[in-house]
Formats: sequence, structure tokens, C-alpha cells
Amino acid sequence: MQIFLDTAEVALLKAGVASGLVDGVTTNPSLIAKSGRDFKEVIAEICDFFKGSVSAEVAALDAPTMIAEGRVLAKIAPNVTVKVPLTRDGLIATKTLSDEGAEVNVTLCFTAVQAMLAAKAGATYISPFIGRLDDMGFNGMDLIEEIRAIYDIYDFRTKILAASIRSPQHVRDAALAGADCATIPVPVFDALFKHPLTDKGLQDFLKDWAGTGQKIL
Ligand code: E4P
Repeated sequence: MQIFLDTAEVALLKAGVASGLVDGVTTNPSLIAKSGRDFKEVIAEICDFFKGSVSAEVAALDAPTMIAEGRVLAKIAPNVTVKVPLTRDGLIATKTLSDEGAEVNVTLCFTAVQAMLAAKAGATYISPFIGRLDDMGFNGMDLIEEIRAIYDIYDFRTKILAASIRSPQHVRDAALAGADCATIPVPVFDALFKHPLTDKGLQDFLKDWAGTGQKIL
């Protein structure tokens, strides 16, 4: 499964990318607001040091303006993926932008039927929001399973990008449900590496190794 980082904080991204395990980056208007930075400037800066997909979201609600904004965003760098909301206008914009060769990430997906429409419109990625469904008392992971089943039956090539991830368990469950990618907040990404038994086992190994008095280098 591909790992994307869900942040617009450049310093955090650089640290994550240095792991060599990051395949993409997603931003959204809330994350840009949180960064306190100029939108186009921060996307350009990310694309400078990271060559995987970088999602940048349009702000308009009507298709013609979304398309115009998408064209501007796509011109920032070749690895920009234009992000559009899953609305009727958003899918009209998806069709036009993807026909023009832009990668499009359709965001704010909450049903499998919405995901099917996004695939028909030519989306490169569909972003089902797991955590926000869980918050409402639903099981967000059911949505990933349903989308996987529909995409497999009809051989849709749109990639399932599990979003609104809140925990390592979400990452595991999304992987098991067949998500192609997951976009993960940096603290959750950092937590993926950790297990108390790894720490304890390492401590024990180091203690026993020190007892041998040997060196490798
Ligand atoms: C995805 O592209 C979104 O940026 C993100 O995953 C939303 O997550 P949230 O529900 O934690 O805001």
C-alpha cells in the first residue's frame, strides 16, 4: 500500500520523506490555513523536494471556476494532483481536468456510489474519509471494502486513497480492505514504526551484545 502524508507543514514533511517510505502528500484548505502560509507557495516548495503526487485542492464550488483553478494548480509542478470535492460540479471538473491529462484526487467521499461516479469521471484517486464516518457512529472501513468490491467488479483503475486516518489500526484495516494508498497525519505515521516489544527486545539484545565485548566496526 502506498503511504501519503496528510499535512502542509514543510518541516514535518521533510522528516517524513527522509524515511524513504512516502509515496505522496495530501493537503486541504484546513491544513493550508493551519500552516499559515501562501497556498501556491507552499505547494511549489513541497514539489521542489518531493516528486511524488502532491494534492492541492480547488476552492471554487462551480465547475468552470474549479477547472480554471485546477489548471493553475496543475501548472505549479508536474507532480501536482488537483483535488476536487465530490459534488456534481466537482465531477464535471474531474472529467475535464483528467481528459486534459491532469491527475485528479476526488475528496470528501462518503458513499460507495459517490466513489463509483468519481471513477466514471476519470478520477486518479478517490478519498473516502474513514475517521469522519467513525465519528458519526458508522464503520468507515466498510466504505473502503465496498469501494474495493465495486472497483474490482468493473475494473475501475481509480486508486482508493483512504483518508481521515486517525490511528495505526486504521492504516492496518485500510491495507487489509484493499486500499491502494492511505493518507496519514504525521503523528500517526511516526506511530507506525513503534511497538513496545520492539523497544524491549532491542534493549535486551543491546545488553547481551555489550556483554560479548565485540564490535562490528
Ligand atoms: C484527505 O485528503 C484529507 O486531507 C484528510 O485526510 C482529512 O482528515 P480529517 O478528517 O482528519 O480532517
